[in-house]
This record gives sequence, structure tokens and C-alpha cells, in this order.
Amino acid sequence: MGHHPVEDSNNSNNRPFEEIINARFSRRRLLTGTASAATVSVLGAFGLAACGDSSSGGSGEAPVDTGGLTVSPENLGFRAVPTSLEDRVVLPEGYRADVLFAKGDPLISGLAPFRNDGTDVDYDNRSGDEHDGMHFFGLNGSGQYDATVSDRGILVLNHENLEDNTLHETATAKQDAIDANDLVSLKRIVDREMNGHGVSCVEVRKTDGKWAVVLDSPYNRRLTIFTEMELKGPVAGADFVRTRLSPDGRKRFGTMNNCANGYTPWGTYLAAEENWYAYFAALSPAEIGALSPKEQAWVARYGIGAAWAYRQWDLVPGDQYARFSIAATGATATDDFRNEANAHGYITEVDPFRPAQKPRVRTAFGRFSHEGAWVAPAKAGQPVVIYSGDDSRREYMYKFVSTAPWDPADENAGLVAGDKYLDEGTLYVAVFNEDGTGQWKALTIDNPELAGTQSYQLDDTTSLDYDFQTQAEVLASARLAADVVGATPMDRPEWAAVNPLNGDVYLTLTNGNADNRPADDLDGANPRAVNSNGHIIRWKENSANHAATTFEWDIFLFGSSADADADYNVSGLTQDNEFSSPDGLYIDPRGVLWLQTDDGSSGIRSTTNNQMLVAIPGSVGDGESVTVTTSDGTTQASIDTLVGQSAEAVQLKRFLVGPRGCEITGITMTADARSLFVNIQHPGENGTAEEFNRDDSTWPASSGDATAVGEADNRPRSATIVIYREDGGELAV
Ligand code: FEO
Ligand code: CA
Ligand code: CA
Repeated sequence: MGHHPVEDSNNSNNRPFEEIINARFSRRRLLTGTASAATVSVLGAFGLAACGDSSSGGSGEAPVDTGGLTVSPENLGFRAVPTSLEDRVVLPEGYRADVLFAKGDPLISGLAPFRNDGTDVDYDNRSGDEHDGMHFFGLNGSGQYDATVSDRGILVLNHENLEDNTLHETATAKQDAIDANDLVSLKRIVDREMNGHGVSCVEVRKTDGKWAVVLDSPYNRRLTIFTEMELKGPVAGADFVRTRLSPDGRKRFGTMNNCANGYTPWGTYLAAEENWYAYFAALSPAEIGALSPKEQAWVARYGIGAAWAYRQWDLVPGDQYARFSIAATGATATDDFRNEANAHGYITEVDPFRPAQKPRVRTAFGRFSHEGAWVAPAKAGQPVVIYSGDDSRREYMYKFVSTAPWDPADENAGLVAGDKYLDEGTLYVAVFNEDGTGQWKALTIDNPELAGTQSYQLDDTTSLDYDFQTQAEVLASARLAADVVGATPMDRPEWAAVNPLNGDVYLTLTNGNADNRPADDLDGANPRAVNSNGHIIRWKENSANHAATTFEWDIFLFGSSADADADYNVSGLTQDNEFSSPDGLYIDPRGVLWLQTDDGSSGIRSTTNNQMLVAIPGSVGDGESVTVTTSDGTTQASIDTLVGQSAEAVQLKRFLVGPRGCEITGITMTADARSLFVNIQHPGENGTAEEFNRDDSTWPASSGDATAVGEADNRPRSATIVIYREDGGELAV
């Protein structure tokens, strides 16, 4: 998202045990015979891998044809596209892309055409801004979820945030209204902002090879920051979520900063809330001082009340706006909105097929900056397992394991199945162990590690004592609970993906910085100081069971520019596949991996716009142990880790480059692997209200051709594009 606030409140002492990790890798080196793990030996290993066969994962199996699809392909069937600074979507030869659903596009007929001049309203019936996570739900003739339908479906997508430079009449329109105390104008502007967020559900159909939105479909709807939702799971009804608009603590309004997503085997959509804490007005020192130490610890650990990207919505009269000010102003909690922030930061479940049902907020997943929620392939009789990372610097990786075992009879049961599988279960957090394995630690009130008085180190001089009284408290302060059990701080967990062919779980770690990843604070799972370009870690759960509490990990790829030193360019990236800041991730049903980037100012953005790459991943443990020599600018360190095969061996290739200033995010494919939906988020992000169309982006063009440049004076718009092969074949193979 634009001007991404990256919250950093992890003051826990969960420092990796470098010396123990060294011991781990010494053992491993003996086992693999690489007694000296210097960089030279790493390059040697890569050289061997590159010269060997380019198999699709070390299984040695020939490609299989399943359901007409090329499962486990041997090779990718396109030529890598070059880096690009052009203001258009660049694709391999033989591919095309149409703009399907752009910011402001209507969901219903009869709405005023989108003017795109900052005067548009009615975003509750138009596409919101900043398209992000997305899923295509096949829709059959009976109005039911059918994952095999590839020409008609409900596309559900998140609208993460707003592009302030293009959303309103002028860049200063909002501040002008505030300065003039013009509450009529301010309400119009704030309503536009609150309705520009949330989730879109739109029916889409493919006719004569071309996809289009079905206007007025009964499935079309927008969820916004006004939409009423039910609070479910252990936190529902707790004292600390009761407010003036929800006196029983079982209701919440809206969902915001919806980054990535998930989908369930029972046909529902999961919208994650990432930087939700940024929307609340700052608390004054006196207001913070009036909180108990425990409340102060919660607020500090989540960055609440620090006014990151505070939008001043509470200046508009009315409870729907007042709730963004969380100071205690009334006699009791149900007289004000002191608890409003405690009801945000969860996963919201939406049933695209039953639009009359209110979304349900699933609190059993815990409260943090959820990037998304990725459900492992469900197996009958086994728990439903969902992976979710906390996207802030030095935050953790979590998974949820349902209490109820999966019953395939619940397919199509919608939110009733959600109640069964998502409201009762166990939240775990990941520890990347010193011996090459990992461990999932349960965040449950009966975990003895969480008993008694705990302490949060606010700064060098202040510590705040707190305790966990209930499971609801553990979940609502999951970060604090994860600190206590010694979770491993990661370099910003973004998307996860489960390889449907072998169950390996992949996680993008988008980047770090010198403050959060200094050279004296590395571990095998986060081995590069600063780590401006990020990496992708992966793991295999023990006994091929996603509910297992132990796993083995290695690092799939490191981001880098192609011309960086070999010490830094660990995966051997070339001009065909250099990338930075991995974010979006998807492994399609054929086992083909798609990687999307959100590279800001610190990466390789001066040489290319953001991009999407494709690879045929191997499997955990198919690579080598290596020593990474790394520096934060002042201190140099050497750290041992495990890496997978080289970028060349996994055939990593650039498939798409987006227009200027955009992030590539959101990805979903039809079951026939012939239509790929991708989101182009915030083209022209670096523009200004005065100069949005001068030297940055005017994408997309009115022609609807995503590969064409936009027209002069056109304000850039986030949009969903759909990618096809011109010959109608399967994508990428
Ligand atoms: Fe919204 Fe973590 O990217
Ligand atoms: Ca992002
Ligand atoms: Ca993201």
C-alpha cells in the first residue's frame, strides 16, 4: 500500500541463538560432507545444480496429466520478459491482459459514470481503491460454489487503502474542509474514504473468450468500513470489546486495510486486516497514563494510539465516525469507544454466495497485522489448518488448527461451516529452531509458559507488568503471548502458499532494515543484515501433517539485484529474474509458483517497476547449507543457513512487469489454468495531486488493454486485470 506504515513494537528479547544455530549447521555440514561452507562452496553447489537436470522438484517423476492440466511441468513455456520502467503491463510474447475491474467501476447499472476527477461518490456501489488479495469462486448454474467452473464466478477482492493523491478533488480538499470547519464537505470526503476501503464481491463471466463484470448480479456487493459484522469466537462478548455501538461486544462495523486473503473449502472468503492500528486517533500521554499497565502494554505492543496514518474520521459528527477516537471520555466503556481498536485486527469471513448474511469476524485466529489467511488443502477427518503471518518488522508466523475435523459434507455450507471450523481451535506461533527444525508453540491459556505475571519492556527504562486471564485475552494480545513463548522474529511475514503437490509451506519475508536486522542480531531463518530485498522461507510439517507441532525449514530464494556480490545474491539471480521485496505468492494446482513484488524505495525499483515471476519450486531440503557473509554498514557477520536450489534450477523467470509506481498483488486462477486474475495496486503511487499524470502513471488506458499506456490527464487507477494466452492454452507452461 502507499506509504506503508511498518509498525515496530516488538521489544521482546526473543533474540536468536546464533551460537546454537552454528552448532546446528556444523552438524549438518558433517552430514552433507560440505565441511567448509564458504561462499566458494556455495557457488560450486549452484554450479552443479545448474548443470544438472532442471527437474521440477527433485522427485524425478515425469509430468502427469491430471484433469487435462499439466501437473508438475518440467519446463516453463515462456521467455522471461525484461525489466521495465514503462507505464504499462509487460507480458511474454503470446500473452494478453484485459482490464476487468478498475477503481470506481460500478457494480450496478444506473450509477453515474465514473468521472475519475476526484468528485466521484457512491463507492459503496463501485470498486474501492487499492486492489489487493483476491479469489475467484467458480459459480455453477445452481448458484453454488463449484471450484471446477472456469467461465463464471464471483471474484472477491480486498481494497487495502486509498491513494490520496487521486481520490479527492484536490490533495488539500480534506484539510481545507477541516480548516474551514465545513462538516458537510468533510462528511462527503470521509464517506468516500470509508467506502473506498473494504471488499468487493462481483460476478464475472467469460463470453467469447472475454471476461466481463455482470452488472446488477445479486452477488455483487461492497463491504466497507460501515458494514455491520458479527464478532465471533473466544473474543466475542469479552469486556474489552464492548462499545457504545456494541454494548454486548458481539458486533463490529467494517473491515479495513484488507491486505491479502484466503478462501475456505466451504466456499467462503477470508479478508485479513493488516495495518488497522493506524486508523485510530493518537492517545495523549495523559490518556495513556490513565490506562492500566496491562492496557498500556496492549496499546504499545500493537502501535495503537500512535497516529501512523490517522485519517481524522472522528472529526465527523456521529458514532460511526467517533469510534476512531479511542480515548475514554464516558463513564463506562459502553459510553464511548475506548475498546473499539480491540475489535479490529482479526480475520473476517465473507460468504460470497449468500450476500444477505453479515460477515463474521473470526477472533480465534488472534489479533495482529494479519497479512492473509492461507488454508492448507483440507483432508477428511483431519483438522482445518490456516497459516497467517504478522506483517511488521520482527513479527511472527502463526497457524490456526481447528478443533473440528474436516467433513467434506460441509462443502458449500458457508458461514455455518465457518462457525464449526473457525471459532474453536488452537493458535500456534512458529519458532525456527537451532537444530534445523521448527516448532509450533500453542498460544492457549493453559500453556504454563503464559501463567503468572509477565513484563513488556516499553523502552530502556519502563517495563509494564501484565498477565493473561482468559483465552480471549491471549488472542487479543497474541503478540505479547508470542513474545512470552519465544517466537522467532521474522523479516516481515507477507503471503504464504501451500504447494498442493507436496504440502510444503512457503512464506515471503519482504524485507528488513538496519534498525530491525542489525548484523549482531541474525539467525538462520533471517540471515542477512538489513535485508533490503527480502527472502522466501519454506517448511515441511512433520509427518506430512499440517496440524503437526514440528517442522523442517530452508530458504527457497533470496531477493537481490543481479549485480550484487555473490555473498548477498545468494540464489544467483540474473537479469531474467532479479527481484526485491517478495510479497504476493501463489502455487497453482499444477505446482507452479507465482511470486509478486512490492518493492519500495530501498530495493531495485530504480531499474524496474514491480513484477511477477514464475518458478517450479523444488522441495524443502533439496539444497545446501551455506554461510552468508553480511553487513549492516558498520558490522560484518557470517551466519549459516540452509538454502534451496538456485534460481536457475527452479527456472525462476520474470512473467510480468506492471505500470509505474504500482505494486503487483492479488492472484487467482481459474481451474482450467487458462485465466489468471492479478491486481495492479496504486499505479502512480509516487505522483502528487498536482502532478499525478505528468511523469508517473496514467495507467490504465480507456481501451481496456492492460498492455497499453494510459492517456494524458488520466488519473491512474488500481485495477484487476485478467491474463490469457492468445492461443487459449494453459498459462506459463
Ligand atoms: Fe499489505 Fe503486507 O502488504
Ligand atoms: Ca504490500
Ligand atoms: Ca501484501
